[in-house]
Amino acid sequence: MAEDKRIGTVLGGYRIVEPLGSGATSVVYRAEHVRLGRPAALKLLTPAFGEADFRDRFLRESRLAASLDHPSIVPVYDAGDEDGLLYIAMACVDGSDLKTLLAEEGRLPVRRALRIVGQIASALDAAHARGLVHRDVKPANILVAAEDRAYLSDFGVVKELASNGTTRTGSFVGTTEYSAPEQIEGRAVDGRADVYALACVLYECIAGAPPFHRPSEVAVLNAHLHTPPPKLTRVATDAPPALEPVIAKALSKSPLDRYATCGEFLGAARAAASDRRVHRRRLAVSLTLLALAALIGAAIATGVYALVDRGGGTRTVTTTRTPPSRPVSPSLDSLLLASSVDPRTLNDAAFWLIKAQQYARAVPLARKALRYATVGTPTRGYAAFNLGDALRHVGRCRESLKYFDRALKLEPQARDVVRKAIKSVQRCLQRGASAQTP
Ligand SMILES: Nc1ncnc2c1ncn2[C@@H]1O[C@H](COP(=O)(O)OP(=O)(O)OP(=O)(O)O)[C@@H](O)[C@H]1O
Ligand SMILES: [Mg+2]
Repeated sequence: MAEDKRIGTVLGGYRIVEPLGSGATSVVYRAEHVRLGRPAALKLLTPAFGEADFRDRFLRESRLAASLDHPSIVPVYDAGDEDGLLYIAMACVDGSDLKTLLAEEGRLPVRRALRIVGQIASALDAAHARGLVHRDVKPANILVAAEDRAYLSDFGVVKELASNGTTRTGSFVGTTEYSAPEQIEGRAVDGRADVYALACVLYECIAGAPPFHRPSEVAVLNAHLHTPPPKLTRVATDAPPALEPVIAKALSKSPLDRYATCGEFLGAARAAASDRRVHRRRLAVSLTLLALAALIGAAIATGVYALVDRGGGTRTVTTTRTPPSRPVSPSLDSLLLASSVDPRTLNDAAFWLIKAQQYARAVPLARKALRYATVGTPTRGYAAFNLGDALRHVGRCRESLKYFDRALKLEPQARDVVRKAIKSVQRCLQRGASAQTP
Protein backbone atom coordinates (compact mmCIF):
# COMPACT_ATOMS: atom_id res chain seq x y z
CA MET A 1 0.00 0.00 0.00
CA ALA A 2 1.44 3.42 -0.96
CA GLU A 3 2.57 5.54 1.95
CA ASP A 4 0.24 8.48 2.60
CA LYS A 5 2.41 11.57 2.14
CA ARG A 6 -0.09 13.76 3.98
CA ILE A 7 0.59 12.09 7.33
CA GLY A 8 2.60 14.49 9.52
CA THR A 9 1.95 17.52 7.32
CA VAL A 10 0.07 20.61 8.52
CA LEU A 11 -3.01 21.95 6.80
CA GLY A 12 -5.09 24.89 7.99
CA GLY A 13 -3.25 24.77 11.33
CA TYR A 14 -3.97 21.05 11.83
CA ARG A 15 -1.34 18.32 11.86
CA ILE A 16 -2.56 15.21 10.01
CA VAL A 17 -2.14 12.10 12.16
CA GLU A 18 -3.78 9.11 10.46
CA PRO A 19 -6.56 8.26 8.02
CA LEU A 20 -10.01 7.62 9.49
CA GLY A 21 -11.90 6.75 6.33
CA SER A 22 -12.81 7.94 2.89
CA GLY A 23 -15.93 8.54 0.87
CA ALA A 24 -16.81 9.08 -2.75
CA THR A 25 -15.47 12.60 -2.75
CA SER A 26 -13.25 12.99 0.29
CA VAL A 27 -10.73 11.57 2.71
CA VAL A 28 -11.04 12.02 6.47
CA TYR A 29 -8.00 12.10 8.78
CA ARG A 30 -7.52 12.16 12.51
CA ALA A 31 -5.70 15.45 13.14
CA GLU A 32 -4.57 17.76 15.91
CA HIS A 33 -4.64 21.53 16.08
CA VAL A 34 -1.00 22.53 16.20
CA ARG A 35 -1.33 25.44 18.63
CA LEU A 36 -4.25 24.29 20.77
CA GLY A 37 -3.45 20.57 20.74
CA ARG A 38 -7.16 19.91 20.24
CA PRO A 39 -7.94 16.64 18.43
CA ALA A 40 -10.06 16.95 15.31
CA ALA A 41 -11.19 15.13 12.20
CA LEU A 42 -9.95 16.80 9.03
CA LYS A 43 -11.92 16.10 5.89
CA LEU A 44 -10.08 16.79 2.63
CA LEU A 45 -11.46 17.09 -0.82
CA THR A 46 -10.12 14.40 -3.12
CA PRO A 47 -8.17 16.30 -5.82
CA ALA A 48 -10.06 14.67 -8.71
CA PHE A 49 -13.22 16.32 -7.46
CA GLY A 50 -11.78 19.81 -7.28
CA GLU A 51 -13.98 21.29 -9.99
CA ALA A 52 -15.50 24.67 -9.32
CA ASP A 53 -19.06 23.55 -8.51
CA PHE A 54 -17.90 20.81 -6.19
CA ARG A 55 -15.58 23.20 -4.43
CA ASP A 56 -18.47 25.59 -3.83
CA ARG A 57 -20.55 22.73 -2.52
CA PHE A 58 -17.80 21.69 -0.13
CA LEU A 59 -17.32 25.19 1.30
CA ARG A 60 -21.06 25.57 1.53
CA GLU A 61 -21.24 22.33 3.52
CA SER A 62 -18.91 23.77 6.11
CA ARG A 63 -20.77 27.01 6.55
CA LEU A 64 -24.12 25.28 6.88
CA ALA A 65 -22.86 22.60 9.21
CA ALA A 66 -21.08 25.19 11.36
CA SER A 67 -24.33 27.08 11.81
CA LEU A 68 -25.94 24.08 13.50
CA ASP A 69 -25.62 23.53 17.22
CA HIS A 70 -27.08 20.23 18.37
CA PRO A 71 -25.72 17.43 20.62
CA SER A 72 -26.15 14.91 17.78
CA ILE A 73 -24.59 16.96 15.00
CA VAL A 74 -20.80 16.78 14.61
CA PRO A 75 -19.53 20.29 15.52
CA VAL A 76 -17.57 22.00 12.75
CA TYR A 77 -14.48 23.95 13.86
CA ASP A 78 -13.12 25.47 10.71
CA ALA A 79 -13.04 25.18 6.95
CA GLY A 80 -11.02 26.61 4.14
CA ASP A 81 -8.89 26.32 1.10
CA GLU A 82 -5.11 25.93 1.34
CA ASP A 83 -2.58 25.02 -1.33
CA GLY A 84 -5.42 24.10 -3.66
CA LEU A 85 -6.84 21.68 -1.11
CA LEU A 86 -10.22 22.14 0.49
CA TYR A 87 -10.59 21.11 4.10
CA ILE A 88 -13.12 21.06 6.89
CA ALA A 89 -12.09 20.55 10.51
CA MET A 90 -14.65 19.05 12.84
CA ALA A 91 -14.88 17.23 16.16
CA CYS A 92 -13.39 13.77 15.95
CA VAL A 93 -15.91 11.15 16.99
CA ASP A 94 -14.21 8.26 18.70
CA GLY A 95 -16.09 5.16 17.56
CA SER A 96 -17.21 3.91 14.20
CA ASP A 97 -19.80 4.81 11.64
CA LEU A 98 -23.14 2.98 11.54
CA LYS A 99 -22.27 1.35 8.21
CA THR A 100 -19.21 -0.32 9.75
CA LEU A 101 -21.16 -1.18 12.88
CA LEU A 102 -23.86 -2.97 10.87
CA ALA A 103 -21.28 -4.75 8.73
CA GLU A 104 -19.53 -6.04 11.82
CA GLU A 105 -22.39 -6.67 14.23
CA GLY A 106 -25.18 -7.51 11.83
CA ARG A 107 -28.72 -6.30 12.37
CA LEU A 108 -29.42 -4.56 15.65
CA PRO A 109 -32.07 -5.27 18.29
CA VAL A 110 -35.06 -2.97 17.73
CA ARG A 111 -34.53 -0.99 20.93
CA ARG A 112 -30.90 -0.29 20.11
CA ALA A 113 -31.77 0.69 16.55
CA LEU A 114 -34.39 3.11 17.85
CA ARG A 115 -31.93 4.56 20.35
CA ILE A 116 -29.39 5.35 17.63
CA VAL A 117 -31.85 6.48 14.96
CA GLY A 118 -33.83 8.51 17.54
CA GLN A 119 -30.83 10.76 18.20
CA ILE A 120 -30.40 11.37 14.47
CA ALA A 121 -34.12 12.14 14.14
CA SER A 122 -33.75 14.89 16.71
CA ALA A 123 -30.66 16.27 14.90
CA LEU A 124 -32.53 16.30 11.59
CA ASP A 125 -35.55 18.07 13.04
CA ALA A 126 -33.19 20.75 14.40
CA ALA A 127 -31.64 21.17 10.94
CA HIS A 128 -35.08 21.30 9.31
CA ALA A 129 -36.16 23.98 11.77
CA ARG A 130 -33.23 26.04 10.44
CA GLY A 131 -34.44 25.49 6.89
CA LEU A 132 -31.83 22.86 6.00
CA VAL A 133 -32.41 19.46 4.46
CA HIS A 134 -29.54 17.01 4.80
CA ARG A 135 -30.32 14.94 1.69
CA ASP A 136 -27.65 12.32 2.32
CA VAL A 137 -28.82 10.56 5.48
CA LYS A 138 -27.19 7.11 5.40
CA PRO A 139 -25.36 4.80 7.82
CA ALA A 140 -21.91 6.06 6.64
CA ASN A 141 -22.89 9.57 7.74
CA ILE A 142 -23.98 8.46 11.21
CA LEU A 143 -21.10 8.17 13.67
CA VAL A 144 -21.61 6.03 16.75
CA ALA A 145 -19.47 6.65 19.85
CA ALA A 146 -19.34 5.06 23.31
CA GLU A 147 -22.66 4.02 24.80
CA ASP A 148 -24.28 4.44 21.39
CA ARG A 149 -24.07 8.23 21.31
CA ALA A 150 -24.92 8.99 17.70
CA TYR A 151 -23.85 11.96 15.59
CA LEU A 152 -24.94 13.08 12.17
CA SER A 153 -22.14 14.21 9.90
CA ASP A 154 -21.49 15.21 6.34
CA PHE A 155 -23.78 17.99 5.41
CA GLY A 156 -22.05 17.73 2.03
CA VAL A 157 -25.25 17.77 0.07
CA VAL A 158 -27.31 19.84 2.44
CA LYS A 159 -29.47 22.24 0.57
CA GLU A 160 -31.06 25.35 1.93
CA LEU A 161 -34.81 25.11 1.61
CA ALA A 162 -35.00 28.69 0.46
CA SER A 163 -32.51 28.42 -2.39
CA ASN A 164 -31.63 26.16 -5.27
CA GLY A 165 -28.47 25.00 -3.52
CA THR A 166 -25.12 24.84 -5.22
CA THR A 167 -25.80 21.83 -7.41
CA ARG A 168 -27.04 22.14 -10.95
CA THR A 169 -30.81 22.19 -11.25
CA GLY A 170 -32.21 18.72 -11.48
CA SER A 171 -28.88 16.97 -10.82
CA PHE A 172 -29.14 14.02 -8.51
CA VAL A 173 -27.54 14.39 -5.10
CA GLY A 174 -27.59 11.71 -2.45
CA THR A 175 -26.96 7.99 -2.15
CA THR A 176 -29.31 5.78 -4.12
CA GLU A 177 -30.17 3.23 -1.42
CA TYR A 178 -31.58 5.97 0.85
CA SER A 179 -33.00 8.51 -1.61
CA ALA A 180 -36.63 9.57 -1.64
CA PRO A 181 -38.55 9.32 -4.94
CA GLU A 182 -38.88 13.11 -5.27
CA GLN A 183 -35.12 13.45 -4.79
CA ILE A 184 -34.42 10.86 -7.48
CA GLU A 185 -36.71 12.66 -9.87
CA GLY A 186 -34.97 15.98 -9.20
CA ARG A 187 -38.11 17.56 -7.79
CA ALA A 188 -38.18 19.97 -4.85
CA VAL A 189 -37.29 18.31 -1.55
CA ASP A 190 -38.03 19.23 2.04
CA GLY A 191 -37.49 17.59 5.44
CA ARG A 192 -39.72 14.68 4.42
CA ALA A 193 -36.98 13.43 2.07
CA ASP A 194 -34.86 13.02 5.22
CA VAL A 195 -37.79 11.24 6.94
CA TYR A 196 -37.75 8.76 4.03
CA ALA A 197 -33.96 8.27 4.23
CA LEU A 198 -34.14 7.84 8.01
CA ALA A 199 -36.82 5.17 7.55
CA CYS A 200 -34.47 3.37 5.15
CA VAL A 201 -31.74 3.54 7.82
CA LEU A 202 -34.05 2.27 10.59
CA TYR A 203 -35.23 -0.54 8.31
CA GLU A 204 -31.62 -1.50 7.55
CA CYS A 205 -30.65 -1.48 11.25
CA ILE A 206 -33.48 -3.91 12.04
CA ALA A 207 -33.53 -6.02 8.86
CA GLY A 208 -29.81 -6.04 8.01
CA ALA A 209 -30.19 -4.51 4.52
CA PRO A 210 -31.86 -1.36 3.19
CA PRO A 211 -35.48 -1.78 2.01
CA PHE A 212 -34.73 -1.37 -1.68
CA HIS A 213 -31.50 -3.28 -1.89
CA ARG A 214 -30.94 -4.48 -5.48
CA PRO A 215 -27.97 -5.67 -7.53
CA SER A 216 -27.79 -2.57 -9.73
CA GLU A 217 -28.21 1.14 -9.15
CA VAL A 218 -30.89 1.40 -11.82
CA ALA A 219 -32.90 -1.34 -10.11
CA VAL A 220 -32.56 0.47 -6.76
CA LEU A 221 -33.81 3.75 -8.23
CA ASN A 222 -36.67 1.96 -9.96
CA ALA A 223 -37.67 0.23 -6.72
CA HIS A 224 -37.73 3.54 -4.80
CA LEU A 225 -40.01 4.98 -7.46
CA HIS A 226 -42.39 2.08 -8.10
CA THR A 227 -42.11 -0.84 -5.66
CA PRO A 228 -44.09 -0.86 -2.39
CA PRO A 229 -41.86 -1.10 0.71
CA PRO A 230 -41.05 -4.73 1.64
CA LYS A 231 -42.53 -6.21 4.78
CA LEU A 232 -40.12 -5.70 7.65
CA THR A 233 -41.36 -8.69 9.64
CA ARG A 234 -40.72 -11.01 6.71
CA VAL A 235 -36.96 -10.38 6.98
CA ALA A 236 -36.80 -9.58 10.68
CA THR A 237 -39.19 -12.08 12.20
CA ASP A 238 -38.56 -10.74 15.69
CA ALA A 239 -39.60 -7.17 14.79
CA PRO A 240 -42.85 -5.97 16.38
CA PRO A 241 -45.62 -6.25 13.75
CA ALA A 242 -46.92 -2.82 14.80
CA LEU A 243 -43.71 -1.30 13.41
CA GLU A 244 -44.64 -2.45 9.91
CA PRO A 245 -47.22 0.28 9.09
CA VAL A 246 -45.04 2.95 10.71
CA ILE A 247 -42.09 2.19 8.43
CA ALA A 248 -44.43 1.85 5.46
CA LYS A 249 -45.87 5.33 6.11
CA ALA A 250 -42.40 6.86 6.43
CA LEU A 251 -41.47 5.16 3.14
CA SER A 252 -44.50 6.46 1.25
CA LYS A 253 -43.72 7.38 -2.35
CA SER A 254 -45.35 10.77 -1.91
CA PRO A 255 -44.00 13.09 0.79
CA LEU A 256 -47.60 14.11 1.49
CA ASP A 257 -48.31 10.62 2.86
CA ARG A 258 -45.26 10.52 5.14
CA TYR A 259 -44.79 11.77 8.69
CA ALA A 260 -44.27 15.53 8.70
CA THR A 261 -41.21 15.37 10.96
CA CYS A 262 -38.55 12.84 11.97
CA GLY A 263 -39.68 13.21 15.60
CA GLU A 264 -43.22 12.23 14.65
CA PHE A 265 -41.90 9.18 12.80
CA LEU A 266 -39.69 8.09 15.71
CA GLY A 267 -42.51 8.71 18.22
CA ALA A 268 -44.76 6.35 16.24
CA ALA A 269 -41.94 3.80 15.87
CA ARG A 270 -41.23 3.82 19.61
CA ALA A 271 -44.90 3.41 20.45
CA ALA A 272 -45.13 0.50 17.99
CA ALA A 273 -42.03 -1.16 19.41
CA SER A 274 -43.36 -1.02 22.94
CA ASP A 275 -46.59 -2.65 21.83
CA ARG A 276 -46.93 -5.55 24.27
CA ARG A 277 -48.67 -8.05 22.01
CA VAL A 278 -46.40 -11.07 21.99
CA HIS A 279 -46.40 -13.81 19.44
CA ARG A 280 -46.31 -17.23 21.08
CA ARG A 281 -43.59 -18.69 18.90
CA ARG A 282 -41.49 -15.58 19.33
CA LEU A 283 -41.92 -15.83 23.10
CA ALA A 284 -40.64 -19.41 23.04
CA VAL A 285 -37.64 -18.43 20.92
CA SER A 286 -36.85 -15.47 23.20
CA LEU A 287 -36.97 -17.66 26.30
CA THR A 288 -34.63 -20.19 24.71
CA LEU A 289 -32.22 -17.43 23.71
CA LEU A 290 -32.36 -15.98 27.20
CA ALA A 291 -31.54 -19.36 28.73
CA LEU A 292 -28.62 -19.80 26.31
CA ALA A 293 -27.33 -16.31 27.08
CA ALA A 294 -27.41 -17.10 30.79
CA LEU A 295 -25.43 -20.29 30.16
CA ILE A 296 -22.78 -18.46 28.15
CA GLY A 297 -22.56 -15.72 30.77
CA ALA A 298 -22.01 -18.30 33.48
CA ALA A 299 -19.40 -20.14 31.42
CA ILE A 300 -17.49 -16.99 30.65
CA ALA A 301 -17.71 -15.68 34.18
CA THR A 302 -15.78 -18.72 35.35
CA GLY A 303 -13.24 -18.31 32.55
CA VAL A 304 -10.21 -16.19 32.18
CA TYR A 305 -9.92 -12.47 31.99
CA ALA A 306 -6.83 -11.69 30.02
CA LEU A 307 -5.27 -9.61 27.33
CA VAL A 308 -2.72 -11.78 25.70
CA ASP A 309 0.21 -14.03 26.11
CA ARG A 310 1.10 -15.05 22.66
CA GLY A 311 4.44 -16.45 21.49
CA GLY A 312 6.44 -15.62 24.61
CA GLY A 313 5.37 -11.95 24.69
CA THR A 314 4.96 -9.96 27.86
CA ARG A 315 1.89 -10.90 29.79
CA THR A 316 -0.61 -8.35 30.98
CA VAL A 317 -3.09 -10.21 32.88
CA THR A 318 -4.84 -11.79 35.52
CA THR A 319 -6.71 -14.86 36.49
CA THR A 320 -6.17 -18.37 35.32
CA ARG A 321 -7.84 -21.16 33.44
CA THR A 322 -7.04 -23.38 30.57
CA PRO A 323 -8.45 -22.33 27.18
CA PRO A 324 -11.66 -24.03 26.14
CA SER A 325 -11.00 -27.20 24.24
CA ARG A 326 -13.53 -26.35 21.54
CA PRO A 327 -13.96 -23.05 19.71
CA VAL A 328 -17.08 -21.07 20.61
CA SER A 329 -19.97 -21.92 18.34
CA PRO A 330 -20.88 -19.13 15.85
CA SER A 331 -24.40 -18.82 17.09
CA LEU A 332 -23.19 -18.25 20.62
CA ASP A 333 -20.94 -15.30 19.92
CA SER A 334 -23.57 -13.60 17.80
CA LEU A 335 -26.00 -14.16 20.65
CA LEU A 336 -23.54 -12.67 23.09
CA LEU A 337 -23.02 -9.74 20.76
CA ALA A 338 -26.73 -9.06 20.67
CA SER A 339 -27.39 -9.52 24.38
CA SER A 340 -24.39 -8.27 26.33
CA VAL A 341 -23.19 -4.76 27.05
CA ASP A 342 -20.64 -5.91 29.60
CA PRO A 343 -17.23 -4.94 28.17
CA ARG A 344 -15.36 -7.59 30.17
CA THR A 345 -17.57 -10.42 28.95
CA LEU A 346 -17.39 -9.18 25.36
CA ASN A 347 -13.64 -8.76 25.62
CA ASP A 348 -13.14 -12.23 27.02
CA ALA A 349 -15.18 -13.70 24.18
CA ALA A 350 -13.09 -11.75 21.65
CA PHE A 351 -9.92 -12.95 23.32
CA TRP A 352 -10.94 -16.60 23.13
CA LEU A 353 -11.97 -16.26 19.52
CA ILE A 354 -8.55 -14.79 18.71
CA LYS A 355 -6.98 -17.71 20.53
CA ALA A 356 -9.09 -20.02 18.38
CA GLN A 357 -7.94 -18.07 15.29
CA GLN A 358 -11.52 -16.95 14.61
CA TYR A 359 -10.37 -13.40 13.92
CA ALA A 360 -13.30 -12.13 11.86
CA ARG A 361 -15.71 -13.23 14.58
CA ALA A 362 -13.58 -11.54 17.23
CA VAL A 363 -13.70 -8.11 15.52
CA PRO A 364 -17.30 -7.09 16.39
CA LEU A 365 -17.00 -8.41 19.95
CA ALA A 366 -13.78 -6.50 20.61
CA ARG A 367 -15.23 -3.38 18.99
CA LYS A 368 -18.34 -3.56 21.15
CA ALA A 369 -16.19 -4.16 24.24
CA LEU A 370 -14.17 -1.05 23.36
CA ARG A 371 -17.34 0.98 22.90
CA TYR A 372 -18.74 -0.01 26.30
CA ALA A 373 -15.50 -0.01 28.30
CA THR A 374 -15.11 2.98 30.59
CA VAL A 375 -12.38 5.41 29.59
CA GLY A 376 -9.13 4.86 31.48
CA THR A 377 -9.85 1.27 32.57
CA PRO A 378 -7.60 -1.71 31.73
CA THR A 379 -10.58 -3.31 29.98
CA ARG A 380 -10.50 -0.49 27.44
CA GLY A 381 -6.81 -1.14 26.85
CA TYR A 382 -7.36 -4.89 26.42
CA ALA A 383 -10.28 -4.26 24.08
CA ALA A 384 -8.22 -1.87 21.94
CA PHE A 385 -5.46 -4.45 21.72
CA ASN A 386 -7.81 -7.31 20.90
CA LEU A 387 -9.53 -5.26 18.22
CA GLY A 388 -6.19 -4.31 16.67
CA ASP A 389 -5.02 -7.90 16.83
CA ALA A 390 -8.17 -9.31 15.21
CA LEU A 391 -8.14 -6.64 12.48
CA ARG A 392 -4.46 -7.31 11.75
CA HIS A 393 -5.21 -10.98 11.26
CA VAL A 394 -8.07 -10.33 8.87
CA GLY A 395 -5.74 -8.16 6.79
CA ARG A 396 -7.03 -4.74 7.92
CA CYS A 397 -3.51 -3.70 8.90
CA ARG A 398 -3.82 0.06 8.53
CA GLU A 399 -7.00 0.12 10.60
CA SER A 400 -5.42 -2.11 13.26
CA LEU A 401 -2.61 0.42 13.80
CA LYS A 402 -4.88 3.01 15.39
CA TYR A 403 -6.12 0.50 17.95
CA PHE A 404 -2.60 -0.68 18.77
CA ASP A 405 -1.61 2.97 19.24
CA ARG A 406 -4.51 3.36 21.60
CA ALA A 407 -3.59 0.16 23.46
CA LEU A 408 -0.05 1.49 23.80
CA LYS A 409 -1.34 4.57 25.61
CA LEU A 410 -3.84 2.67 27.73
CA GLU A 411 -1.71 -0.30 28.66
CA PRO A 412 1.86 0.80 29.42
CA GLN A 413 2.62 -2.54 31.10
CA ALA A 414 1.90 -4.39 27.87
CA ARG A 415 4.14 -2.08 25.85
CA ASP A 416 6.40 -4.85 24.53
CA VAL A 417 3.54 -6.99 23.26
CA VAL A 418 1.84 -4.02 21.65
CA ARG A 419 5.07 -2.79 20.05
CA LYS A 420 5.73 -6.24 18.66
CA ALA A 421 2.27 -6.23 17.11
CA ILE A 422 2.82 -2.73 15.71
CA LYS A 423 6.08 -3.83 14.11
CA SER A 424 4.33 -6.76 12.50
CA VAL A 425 1.64 -4.45 11.12
CA GLN A 426 4.25 -2.06 9.78
CA ARG A 427 5.95 -4.94 7.99
CA CYS A 428 2.58 -5.94 6.58
CA LEU A 429 2.00 -2.40 5.31
CA GLN A 430 5.51 -2.15 3.85
CA ARG A 431 5.04 -5.37 1.99
CA GLY A 432 1.89 -3.85 0.59
CA ALA A 433 0.23 -7.00 1.76
CA SER A 434 -2.50 -5.46 3.85
CA ALA A 435 -5.08 -7.52 2.06
CA GLN A 436 -3.53 -10.70 3.40
CA THR A 437 -3.08 -12.20 6.78
CA PRO A 438 0.42 -11.39 8.01
N1 LIG B 1 -15.93 13.63 12.50
C1 LIG B 1 -15.50 12.39 12.30
N2 LIG B 1 -14.93 11.70 13.31
C2 LIG B 1 -14.50 10.42 13.11
N3 LIG B 1 -14.59 9.76 11.94
C3 LIG B 1 -15.14 10.40 10.90
C4 LIG B 1 -15.61 11.73 11.01
N4 LIG B 1 -16.13 12.10 9.82
C5 LIG B 1 -15.99 11.05 9.01
N5 LIG B 1 -15.38 10.02 9.63
C6 LIG B 1 -15.04 8.70 9.06
O1 LIG B 1 -14.62 8.87 7.74
C7 LIG B 1 -15.42 8.10 6.84
C8 LIG B 1 -15.53 8.83 5.52
O2 LIG B 1 -16.34 9.95 5.65
P1 LIG B 1 -16.87 10.77 4.40
O3 LIG B 1 -17.93 11.67 4.88
O4 LIG B 1 -15.73 11.36 3.71
O5 LIG B 1 -17.44 9.65 3.41
P2 LIG B 1 -18.81 8.83 3.29
O6 LIG B 1 -19.85 9.46 4.15
O7 LIG B 1 -18.54 7.38 3.53
O8 LIG B 1 -19.17 8.97 1.77
P3 LIG B 1 -19.71 10.23 0.97
O9 LIG B 1 -18.56 10.78 0.22
O10 LIG B 1 -20.76 9.65 0.08
O11 LIG B 1 -20.25 11.18 1.98
C9 LIG B 1 -16.74 7.93 7.59
O12 LIG B 1 -17.47 6.83 7.17
C10 LIG B 1 -16.27 7.80 9.03
O13 LIG B 1 -15.93 6.46 9.29
MG1 LIG C 1 -19.87 11.14 4.84
